[in-house]
Amino acid sequence: MRIDTPAGSILCDPWVNPAYFASWFPFPDNSQLDWETLGQVDYLYVSHLHRDHFDAAHLARFVSKKAAVLLPEYPTSQLEDELRELGFTSFVKTVTNEPVALDGGLTVMIQALTSPTDGPIGDSSLWVEYDGIRLLNQNDARPTDLSVFAALGHVHAHLLQFSGAIWYPMVYELPTAAKTAFGKQKRERQFDRTVRYVDDLKASWVFPIAGPPCFLDDELWGFNDLGTDEGNIFPDQQVFLDHYGSLGYPNGVLLLPGSVATVTADACDVEHPVPNVREFFARKEEHLRAYQERQRPVIAAAKNSWRHPEIDVVKELKRRLEPLLDESEYLARGVGGPVRFDLVGYDGESVESIVVDFPGKQVRRAADEKVRYRFRTERALVEHLLYIDELDWVNSLFLSCRFSAARIGQYNEFVYAFFKCLSDERLQYAEGWYAEQKPDAEDVTLSGWVVQRRCAHLKADLTRFGKVEDGVLTCQMHGWKWDLASGRCLTSAGHEIRSRPAELPAVVAPNP
Ligand code: FES
Repeated sequence: MRIDTPAGSILCDPWVNPAYFASWFPFPDNSQLDWETLGQVDYLYVSHLHRDHFDAAHLARFVSKKAAVLLPEYPTSQLEDELRELGFTSFVKTVTNEPVALDGGLTVMIQALTSPTDGPIGDSSLWVEYDGIRLLNQNDARPTDLSVFAALGHVHAHLLQFSGAIWYPMVYELPTAAKTAFGKQKRERQFDRTVRYVDDLKASWVFPIAGPPCFLDDELWGFNDLGTDEGNIFPDQQVFLDHYGSLGYPNGVLLLPGSVATVTADACDVEHPVPNVREFFARKEEHLRAYQERQRPVIAAAKNSWRHPEIDVVKELKRRLEPLLDESEYLARGVGGPVRFDLVGYDGESVESIVVDFPGKQVRRAADEKVRYRFRTERALVEHLLYIDELDWVNSLFLSCRFSAARIGQYNEFVYAFFKCLSDERLQYAEGWYAEQKPDAEDVTLSGWVVQRRCAHLKADLTRFGKVEDGVLTCQMHGWKWDLASGRCLTSAGHEIRSRPAELPAVVAPNP
């Protein structure tokens, strides 16, 4: 989406190239838009690092590097780092939930969500105001409520996700009837959640955006919602708006790539690139088939790049995962059992089974054993993940839907939290986040000082990364320092740490 105001334009999450092992494509096709022109903007907003929001190739080629980036306040600098690598140099570093006045009367506010389950560690929404007209691009973020935005005044345009963006339940090895029933429930929940957000904000106009993707590879074609499967979790904009209208809401607005909506205090005028939008959706399958033909070479080229037969998968997984398993306390305990990967060879038949043993903290060949989760996927995909040193398998393998899964028991968020945190920094952050959810967050003793176990910067475990010298604590994850007598952070404003000399009883609070 591009937001144009007299005080400047903001391009939001321009996504054009396929994501997740060439599985997801934007729907409808937006590749024919005049991106050279659309990319000449004053501001760029990338809500988060999921690859259907952060399209590096597109940003590099089409978006003006003079654009100032409106940056959400995330715990890690990965989004900023990746944008800098693409050539962006100007950043407006926002503070979550604090409005920022930009030039010419434009005001923005970004709410960053930072739990390990939000996006790839972080998702966000953008609120914009110009001349009394307010817009919330909630995108696919899931805040607990929208009161922070509502408090800033009536919102005129509310843009939000309404469709699925996950692999559940399609990839699960379940009887068809069960899968349909779960899918139907999920589809209803998605719509209910969207309507709940709409009721919360009570905006003048509601725009369903941020999905669904479409699937153009023959292997995944069945995930497209063509109206024949009530358990499909990817209903399109028109289907949502028909449902929304049937509930009595008159204010839904459909956008296609190239549509222009002009929002004023009491009207929303829309111009579409096609004469009849309903007709466009009635011929959805035809559009998708033509789109598929156009993209066949892209998918074929992507598939050709995945195989790396020189990689010894067990050895590499051992080398990369075992140090993380060793560090992992909450996530490993949360998973609570072995997770098996069945890797299908290039011949489409042979299978190599590898277990990530969370309680045993090791990676090994599978024995004849019960596992908590089982994933079946192509060996080539895992080879590619190892080849590119992917540290987030959710933002690559799992969202690709190019796997099947079975599990014993309930959905386990820790499995996916672990596989999105395959670096020291991310794992420490997730571990610390879970640790701090406990009401009595833990303290530890380090060289005569009792300090909080988790670093006040990005939650590294100070029993591993903390070093005390002359009353100064250094966390070796990023080198930040604290004066332990006062708890003051010597590296950055704020970020005080809880600390006291070990000989003082805990009732004495040196850092009130
Ligand atoms: S986690 Fe960054 S300095 Fe500790």
